[in-house]
Amino acid sequence: MPAPEIVLTERFQSAFASAFGPEYAEADPLIRPSQFADFQCNAAMGLAKRLGKKPRDIAAEILEAVQLEDVAEPLEVAGPGFLNIRLRTEWIASQVAQLADDSRLGIPAGQPRTVVLDYSAPNVAKEMHVGHLRTTVVGDALARTLEKLGHTVIRQNHIGDWGTPFGMLIEHLLEVGEDSPEAALLLTDPNAFYQAARQKFDATEGKAASDADAAGTPGATAADGTQAPAVAADFAARARRRVATLQSGDARSLEIWQRLVEMSKQYFHRIYDMLDVTLTDADLAGESTYNDQLEAVCRDLEEAGIARISDGALCVFPEGFTGRDEQPLPLIIRKSDGGYGYATTDLAAIRHRVRTLGADRIGYVVGTAQELHFQMIFTTAREAGWLPESVEATHVKIGSVLGEDGKILRTRSGSSLRLMALLEEAVAKAQGVIDELRPDLSQQERASIAHDIGIGGVKYADLSTAHDSDYVFDLDRMLALTGNTAPYLQYAVARIRSIGRRAAEQGVDAAGAAPRVDNDAERALALQLLEFGPTLAQVGAAYEPHRLCSYLFATAQAFTAFYEASPILKEADAQVRAGRLALAQLTEQVLVEGLAALGVNAPQQM
Ligand code: ARG
Repeated sequence: MPAPEIVLTERFQSAFASAFGPEYAEADPLIRPSQFADFQCNAAMGLAKRLGKKPRDIAAEILEAVQLEDVAEPLEVAGPGFLNIRLRTEWIASQVAQLADDSRLGIPAGQPRTVVLDYSAPNVAKEMHVGHLRTTVVGDALARTLEKLGHTVIRQNHIGDWGTPFGMLIEHLLEVGEDSPEAALLLTDPNAFYQAARQKFDATEGKAASDADAAGTPGATAADGTQAPAVAADFAARARRRVATLQSGDARSLEIWQRLVEMSKQYFHRIYDMLDVTLTDADLAGESTYNDQLEAVCRDLEEAGIARISDGALCVFPEGFTGRDEQPLPLIIRKSDGGYGYATTDLAAIRHRVRTLGADRIGYVVGTAQELHFQMIFTTAREAGWLPESVEATHVKIGSVLGEDGKILRTRSGSSLRLMALLEEAVAKAQGVIDELRPDLSQQERASIAHDIGIGGVKYADLSTAHDSDYVFDLDRMLALTGNTAPYLQYAVARIRSIGRRAAEQGVDAAGAAPRVDNDAERALALQLLEFGPTLAQVGAAYEPHRLCSYLFATAQAFTAFYEASPILKEADAQVRAGRLALAQLTEQVLVEGLAALGVNAPQQM
């Protein structure tokens, strides 16, 4: 079921071919929404240049050649040569009737591709901060959207489960004991566990292990003025040794590492469950997954002459990257001490994703700060032949979440900001909203609606902002019933569902009725609904969920205008009533399906 722009594009292209010759059959007719009509064709100016004629003459020739009688009212030429297109209301009605019969709601079935999506990717026993909330939520919406478009999505949760911090984390875990309350922090507030280990490390950094016979170093004074407990002076030294034994494959170290990872995974999945995110254990492909490939990655690059030793480290100098001093910028793939790092892992990962997972497209939903890293990885992978030109690799840059002070949101009132606490606060606030709105519902019903509103509100705030912009975390705005928010859209859906329930009670149903498209408001809503498929396709192609949010917001607004102009149950004419109900129910389907693509649940009532 092609959308209006598609139909118009085809008709104009055959007009170009017949008026100007076959070489014009693929010229872009530049069909755009119009302020003066429904659409306009802006191609005359460009074609005039190519053909060496006046734009208005070209417009007249197009007008002569284009066959749109069934689709549009007679076209008008405006300004220098714009063609204004007003669609025929009957044509819109026939398209919307097809949309109502289409189980895909007009979502185009393009060529299915294999899309690898790298998203969420928090760090084990470290920080799952609001930044990771954003990479999780945006990535998950993209995964759902691409699946609805018919693609095969392979989720890759590239968690940080390897690297030098594990030395101090293991030593800390051994010291506090696995059954201690400190260790339990791994399940509730891993950030705090990490900070404690870090503090011990920093306090003893630079002390020789032989200082250990001193009872302990005086504890550092934390920001809140409390004295940290005394730390054995050899902590940092032990942590360093632990990194080495772990990386050399020591069984005991690996066993403790494994337990740290397990506890972190449990924590991640509690957050994912709370967020209604589709990531499962099967999608975990952390940094450590690639350990046994790092040596080969380095060897292959060195043998191909792409990597060379510089200051003792093995480096790639990918084409086109220079530092401030105009010197080529190195991507270090093996440090001078023989250790591998983040870049090596990502090279192994990209090779695996193309070779083994069969990716046609790879999207990395990761913070903007890592832009240079990914550009260098992509370029190196292309040079190495691991990323053929036919495979598209994209860094979907994620902006920062800011506090009310405009600074990156990390802490609140001095204490560490627990992600779970933040989400619980959102649900509690939403509980207040729904308690006021629907005191008549049962406690249990209200609790489930509060979850949908609270979590939906937080996710939607993330999704409705362009992914590379920063935004201020403001729960009150996220949970407002007005504006471009999840609660506004959820309320719009609940309202249509309530109309449907009342209609059923009155024995009115839309079965068999085509959606009615007659007055201006109905027409505007119908045109809006026809844009669902193309919008979703655009979101999937450009990795831009905020476009879907703007679309859904506009659709809900068009519904409100329609419902004011076209009463449903108060309408006396049975046929009109059924047709309007059908249009309302098609709107409901589009809104629910759109929210589902974003990972936002629409409660039955509100
Ligand atoms: N763990 C990293 C971080 O928290 C993000 C990893 C993103 N994915 C990747 N393939 N590098 O910054």
